[in-house]
Amino acid sequence: MVSRVIPVEAFDLVIFGGTGDLARRKILPGLFRRYCAGQMPENSRVIGAARGDMDNDGYRAFVAEAVREFGGRRSCEDGTLDGFLERMAFVSIDARGEKGWSEMAELMRPDVVRAFYFSVAPSLFGDLAERLNQHGLTDDSSRIVVEKPFGRDLDSARALNRDLAAYFDEGQIYRIDHYLGKETVQNLMAVRFGNMLFEPLWNSQYVDHIQITVAETVGVGGRGEYYDKSGAMRDMVQNHLMQLLCLIAMEPPSKFDPDAVRDEKLKVIRALDPVEPHHIVRGQYDATEGAESYREEVGDPRSRTESYIAMKLGISNWRWAGTPFYLRTGKRLKARSSEITIVFKELNHSIFGEAGDHRNELSIRLQPNEGIELGVTIKEPGPGGMRLINVPLDMSFAQALGADAEDPPDAYERLIMDVIRGNQTLFMRGDEVEAAWAWTDPIINGWDARGDVPKTYESGSEGPVDAVQLLARDTRVWRKVSP
Ligand code: BG6
Repeated sequence: MVSRVIPVEAFDLVIFGGTGDLARRKILPGLFRRYCAGQMPENSRVIGAARGDMDNDGYRAFVAEAVREFGGRRSCEDGTLDGFLERMAFVSIDARGEKGWSEMAELMRPDVVRAFYFSVAPSLFGDLAERLNQHGLTDDSSRIVVEKPFGRDLDSARALNRDLAAYFDEGQIYRIDHYLGKETVQNLMAVRFGNMLFEPLWNSQYVDHIQITVAETVGVGGRGEYYDKSGAMRDMVQNHLMQLLCLIAMEPPSKFDPDAVRDEKLKVIRALDPVEPHHIVRGQYDATEGAESYREEVGDPRSRTESYIAMKLGISNWRWAGTPFYLRTGKRLKARSSEITIVFKELNHSIFGEAGDHRNELSIRLQPNEGIELGVTIKEPGPGGMRLINVPLDMSFAQALGADAEDPPDAYERLIMDVIRGNQTLFMRGDEVEAAWAWTDPIINGWDARGDVPKTYESGSEGPVDAVQLLARDTRVWRKVSP
């Protein structure tokens, strides 16, 4: 199978925070991979911008190092890196002062797509937007890209939206949630809306419940300072898990277009029920041999921030009333494994009497070992009567699709190219982000008011035992977390 490379227009992409961690690990290597794929037109340029002093050659050396370290598996022809580096430039800039802005204005060309990636702290978003405007660096077709965290509650998200809206239309603002750029997350939509098979059953009449799991093996590591102020709820649930939930639960959009999709996602978030405190389990990982506890890692022996969360949600609409959604995510768990499972109801009547388990489960594995598994009931082979067993119809994308699926584009590659193309389908709209915070805020405020303390769980386990109880109370079980 040959991948199709869809050409994009020539561009000037400015990365504010061009020497930061995200640029080094994701943005620059992602651009390089697109360059290798022939998707960076001849006269396109990438301009790193940061406070520090550096010249163009210094930046090229920085980019070369980033590409070597994080460039990924896809091979490029010899000498390709040199061609890529020729497109790099650097401007030393002060987001709040005058330094560097006129130099940047001289560099920008009028006849190409202009994109500005704000890979900086959200507290600088407003300043950058204002400066870009002041220095005449933007026009109606310019785009800005902003990263999470997009606020830490509804008020701060509204303030950020207001700051950006003062200079840019919503159609120019690309809010990244990198989960939407993952190949398999986009596949959720393909599976749901590209097959006749599933959609007629995709509702509370046929679905018993849905599980969404994003399990990580890593701890908070060097990100303790940020993470301890966020916790799993702000860091993962409000954005990544919420987006997965929306794609699973939304009504079919009339077409695959940015506002049609985002309108439907927004309706899901607005239909979410408030969550009862006893339907949430918060956890924090403990020390284990050779690894520090969460509290040691963040340097606060009394921290009450959760590194794990499991919850039961309800959606009050015609399609989903009565079908619980169980979400869980956490760090330092047994395996890195993200998947969504749709558990269908038992048959109304079995002609085989008590001969076995008739339940179908559809599991979409997001990472790793991306694929789809459908549990189907069949007859157990052999004589001795009609005994039924449930076996998986298992499709690994790598096996079914070959080399293309083994090395899918990284989320950032896809998303940056969508910015250049001007396609906002996989980006969050301002109202979506605000609605997600409006649902999240009361939950977090409730913990603060009650002085809620997370349960500890063993590193390398499946999370706190209370999370097992959350489903056991409903006579259900979590799927095993396995890679
Ligand atoms: C980030 C979170 O947004 O997503 C991290 O801040 C988390 O805490 C990461 O580890 C997970 O992303 P991925 O792509 O590795 O699943």
